[in-house]
Amino acid sequence: MKVSAFNSSPHLEKSATDRILLPFLDGMRTAGAQVELVYIHRLDIKPCLGCLACWLKTPGRCAQQDDMADILPRLADSDITVYATPLYVDGMNATMKNLLDRSVPLLQPWFVVSNDHCRHDRVEGNRAGKVVLVSACGFTEIDNFDPLVAHIEAACRNMRREFAGALLRPYANSLPELAESGVDVDDVYDAAREAGTQLITTGRIGADTLARVSRELIPRDRYIQAVNIHFRQVIRRNRRKV
Ligand SMILES: Cc1cc2nc3c(=O)[nH]c(=O)nc-3n(C[C@H](O)[C@H](O)[C@H](O)COP(=O)(O)O)c2cc1C
Repeated sequence: MKVSAFNSSPHLEKSATDRILLPFLDGMRTAGAQVELVYIHRLDIKPCLGCLACWLKTPGRCAQQDDMADILPRLADSDITVYATPLYVDGMNATMKNLLDRSVPLLQPWFVVSNDHCRHDRVEGNRAGKVVLVSACGFTEIDNFDPLVAHIEAACRNMRREFAGALLRPYANSLPELAESGVDVDDVYDAAREAGTQLITTGRIGADTLARVSRELIPRDRYIQAVNIHFRQVIRRNRRKV
């Protein structure tokens, strides 16, 4: 089972997104999957030019020469693709959006009707894999992820892939500090790992496992108070430096 994971956070290996992504991938590896992780913020993935040369001029090949040339074969050849992005203004960040937009060469130009909906078919060699979303956000409520999940679900329908679930972690940046202050966050990481194992061994991720990844760790009022104190301290410290 081939898994291609893409983390689009500019924080790279220090990202909050990685805190959930890494145990998830670890769980898949433990269950026997062959897993590759790419930090796409390090790559040169330019925005789509919208020229459709990849359909109409050089089928399957983009007019731009950048690192997307290495990503396209990975996407085409994956049994499972993991899109891991921080939540930016209620959606995926621009780096991840560029990757999705630039995936269009994996589809054929022709319009077809599927499930009473206008779609494209996959090009030959583009496998009908599964997709998992991993995301981290700053706010406390799980519904902050709703627009992103809806977007990825719709993109899966367009890309002809099966949406297999989302690992969503509110106030993910604070997991280390919460652990230091005695809050039990280990179960969040354990659940992410179990989600990976479940996906490889059973083909699906249990709803209760996903709920554990997202679960409340501290009452909202207490969390907001702590964040605002932290921000005030950092701003004061930075002011002293200038
Ligand atoms: C430009 C920008 C926009 C953001 N928008 C949101 C948002 O709409 N909702 C939210 O809960 N958090 C938002 N955040 C917070 C990030 O999602 C949060 O800090 C996340 O944990 C960062 O993950 P990373 O370390 O993996 O990049 C935003 C952060 C930035 C920099």
